[in-house]
Amino acid sequence: MTARAARLVTASNNFSKGELSDRAQLGGSDEIAQIAVAFNHMVDRIQSDTEVLQSSEKRFRTLVSNITGAVYRLVLDSDWKIEFVSDGISEISGYPASDFINNKVRNFNKIIHPDDAVMVKRMIDKRIFKKQNYILEYRIIRADSSLRWVSDKGQGIFNENGDLLWLDGVIFDITKRKQAEAELHQTLQLKDRLAEVANHRAQKLKQTLQDLQQTQAQLIQTEKMSSLGQMVAGVAHEINNPVNFIHANLSHVSTYTHNLLKLVDLYQEKYPQPPAEIEDLIEDSDLEFINEDLPSILSSMHSGTNRIREIVLSLRNFSRLDESDLKPVNIHEGIDSTLLILQSAIKAKPNFDEIEIVKNYGELPLVECYAGQLNQVFMSIFSNSIYALQNRPKDVASEPKNPSFSQIIITTSMQKSGWVKISIKDNGPGIDGAVKSKIFDPFFTTKPVGQGTGLGLSVSYQIVVDKHGGKLECISAVGEGTEMAIEIPIARSKTKL
Ligand SMILES: Nc1ncnc2c1ncn2[C@@H]1O[C@H](COP(=O)(O)OP(=O)(O)OP(=O)(O)O)[C@@H](O)[C@H]1O
Ligand SMILES: [Mg+2]
Repeated sequence: MTARAARLVTASNNFSKGELSDRAQLGGSDEIAQIAVAFNHMVDRIQSDTEVLQSSEKRFRTLVSNITGAVYRLVLDSDWKIEFVSDGISEISGYPASDFINNKVRNFNKIIHPDDAVMVKRMIDKRIFKKQNYILEYRIIRADSSLRWVSDKGQGIFNENGDLLWLDGVIFDITKRKQAEAELHQTLQLKDRLAEVANHRAQKLKQTLQDLQQTQAQLIQTEKMSSLGQMVAGVAHEINNPVNFIHANLSHVSTYTHNLLKLVDLYQEKYPQPPAEIEDLIEDSDLEFINEDLPSILSSMHSGTNRIREIVLSLRNFSRLDESDLKPVNIHEGIDSTLLILQSAIKAKPNFDEIEIVKNYGELPLVECYAGQLNQVFMSIFSNSIYALQNRPKDVASEPKNPSFSQIIITTSMQKSGWVKISIKDNGPGIDGAVKSKIFDPFFTTKPVGQGTGLGLSVSYQIVVDKHGGKLECISAVGEGTEMAIEIPIARSKTKL
């Protein structure tokens, strides 16, 4: 071999070792020189292509290593062999990328959290089978044993026959987002819990407020009624003594008068011719009339004091201040004494006629109750009826149904199951549905300001229902009058509350 040929061989050996800078500089124009020129051209070309390739790969590597996640390519065999993974994996897993490439030190699927590994494999298999992309979120265990959440987004790459070649994907560390989500979830849960607590408190507060209003209503009404009761009892007491005194002495007065008149008669009989002075007095004082009138005056005084005594008894019966316990009571007496107190309200006035009171009293046993309180209930119901009858609107649509006279019908009856029923019905204007639903609410009134507290029925309800275990019902419609039906057990002990 010539030296020139040897030179060409050396250059081509260097080329095959990857040394691209060597050229065969041979001069001349023989065949070897021409081959050397062609060789040098080829090496020039390859060198320039290689440089382009290297710079392109460098750019690719820079790009890939600048991505915050880790780009990978893996073969979906039993070991999940990783053909390539970018350096980003070391930030995520704490292991260098070289550990995973070709599964040199460890398999990537071995650092997936055991609780998530099965799901990850199943999801990837399923997606690849359907030739779909996959996006998964799972946990990995880092080199320092801490946990990280990752998002893994990838797809299968297939050849023209549809066979799977490998998976290309990218993994991002989403631990911070997951933590933020968990915190948000906790915060939302806390917020819900707080809202629940606040709601509960508000409910409780509402209930307390209602209880308080109820108690206040009852206090006001009890106070009102007890001052009425006290006044009635006081008046009854004050009248009682002098009336008894007069009543007791009336019989003596009657006897004495009788005796005196008898004496005068005897005088007249024995001394038919009295002196002129006596004659004049007999004339002036109309002795004959006195003789006739005095006994009947005395007898009407007697019935007058009797009537006063009855009234006093009724007043005391109404107030029942001495009876704060459950006692067997005659309900009819309670109703009658209440009506007596309301007598002047029932009487005819310049603007309206007297209210007719119809009593359909049934046979009632004594009923175990708080008599004074039950009388308050009668008082409230009668007062409402009287007010309604005396203030009925002139243009009630169903006016023809209302008789021109005002009437309150009281019906009492025994119910089968050991209860009594007291119905008080007026033929007033009635109550419309919207008002009816509120009449038992404390402070609800349709009366003008200053005329009603709106407590009458709410307190009555409490007395009948809570105190006596009974029922209080309002049956009414516009133009139909109003009936208040009270039902109470005869004996509390026999009634289950
Ligand atoms: N017999 C009735 N006829 C028509 N409306 C009635 C009758 N009874 C009660 N009401 C209606 O029910 C409302 C509430 O009655 P409640 O006795 O509780 O209070 P009030 O009578 O308005 O006030 P207070 O009793 O404190 O004077 C009355 O304002 C009235 O509108
Ligand atoms: Mg009232």
